Amino acid sequence: MLAFIRNRSFWLYAICWCATVGIFSGCELLGDDPTPGIGDVADIKYEQHIQSIFDNRCVACHGASSPRAGLRLDGWTYLIQGSDFGEAIVPFSAHDSRLIKLIDPAGSIGHPQDLGQEKLSEDEIGLLKRWVDEGAVGPLGASPFASSLNLLYIAHDSEPIISIVDTDAQVVVRRVHLEDYGFSENARANHIAVEPDGSFWYASIGSTRSSDVQGVVKFNRQNVMIGQFLTPNPGLIALHPNQNVLYVSRTLLASEPRSLLEIRRSDMLALEIPTTFAGVHALAIRPFGDYLFSSSVDVDQMVIVDLSNLNVFFFDIGGVKHGFGQFAIAPNGNRMWGTGMESNTVTLFDISNPFSVVQRQSLNVGGSPLDLTYLPDASKVYVSVPNANKITVLNAYLDIVERDIKHAGISGPVGLATSSDGKYVFVANRNSTGSYQARRPFPGEGFPGTLVVIDTATDTVVKVIEIGSGAAMMGSRVVVPTFSQ
Ligand code: HEC
Repeated sequence: MLAFIRNRSFWLYAICWCATVGIFSGCELLGDDPTPGIGDVADIKYEQHIQSIFDNRCVACHGASSPRAGLRLDGWTYLIQGSDFGEAIVPFSAHDSRLIKLIDPAGSIGHPQDLGQEKLSEDEIGLLKRWVDEGAVGPLGASPFASSLNLLYIAHDSEPIISIVDTDAQVVVRRVHLEDYGFSENARANHIAVEPDGSFWYASIGSTRSSDVQGVVKFNRQNVMIGQFLTPNPGLIALHPNQNVLYVSRTLLASEPRSLLEIRRSDMLALEIPTTFAGVHALAIRPFGDYLFSSSVDVDQMVIVDLSNLNVFFFDIGGVKHGFGQFAIAPNGNRMWGTGMESNTVTLFDISNPFSVVQRQSLNVGGSPLDLTYLPDASKVYVSVPNANKITVLNAYLDIVERDIKHAGISGPVGLATSSDGKYVFVANRNSTGSYQARRPFPGEGFPGTLVVIDTATDTVVKVIEIGSGAAMMGSRVVVPTFSQ
């Protein structure tokens, strides 16, 4: 469906283009320029039409020896790996692609003429745009990353888009525009969850306008929308570890409805689980699949759901008001940390017996924490602290704060995700205050959100990818380790 709509809009573009400039393209062919006019090319062949442009215009600086910005353009497999800073192109989305925005910017000096080189011709720019919009097909006839398994889905809370990153290549490989699926320009993805085998993914989609359609949407691996359950203010999503259901909470500030949802993944039919209070947000399931934990930001009470019968019971949280944003449960299922957005602390709970939860210590994290993630080996917990522009790392054996990670790219950090091998933690940053400066600002674009890659062996930032504004919560394929109780 997506591919169909995008191709159609491309053809409209191509037809207008030919109608207005086609008459001149013959003249261009008489010159030295070896590039055919865009109107003369029916099927783009990578080597003939695209690589030849790169060879003539770019490879002097983006070749095998000391490529500028780490970007090689001397072959398709290099191009799709991107630069030291992320992807050069987003297949199917020329207008989201850095390379295209650089060679044909709106209202500023483009590349490589910024370096005293000749500007690409309109035909060359047109061919490159069309090639990206048609899927950046390589010499073997396939689009890049068509079969990637380790994908990270990033919700943007200031635009109706979702970015998809290949966590092995560490580049954006697709961008999903919610308006292409019939959602309004006010639609915003809140959270995403991905099947362990990567076959399907689910997004909770809200809106800045309450009258808009909202709900939980199911997409397949090719990003075709194949199911939905409409519901107001859908929040976080958690997949059941071994049954055909998922659970959905509500957005942080939602006053209604006062319920969680259980949705059957195969057909997206839902059951409502009443919770008595509003703003039920945090959401985590024990790895055994027996109990679910949620809580309200309004009332400091934990909601515990017995997943065998959907019976709900409550645990009163003690001490100062916490307002938990999210929970993370250890792989052994016995301990759970929560982010106290109002208490500026993270709190540990012993949940080995869900009928008698024990509240343990709270650790001050020097700001209002939001999301958190365990490493698969349970050694550390990473906590995002947006208003302190940092990631706090907990030592999950000693239950102490181990260190803070600060970096220019960590600006308003929100969502966290761990690569399935535990080697990297990914941090999505809103950067709404602009404390991270775009390495090359494009006119009309706000501060770029970032995706920061942390190497968990050293807890240092190894990459900052500029990723579109308002990068927020994320979801990735999680390979759930199996533990016996
Ligand atoms: C004269 C040398 C030179 C030529 C020719 C050149 N580039 Fe570059 N390119 C650079 C330098 C230097 C940078 C890094 C600084 C910058 O981003 O402006 C760069 C950066 C880039 C980036 C941004 C990488 C990133 O992630 O920031 C892209 C994309 C790019 N070039 C594409 C091209 C394309 C496409 C061509 C041919 C049409 C080309 N360049 C020709 C020197 C060159």
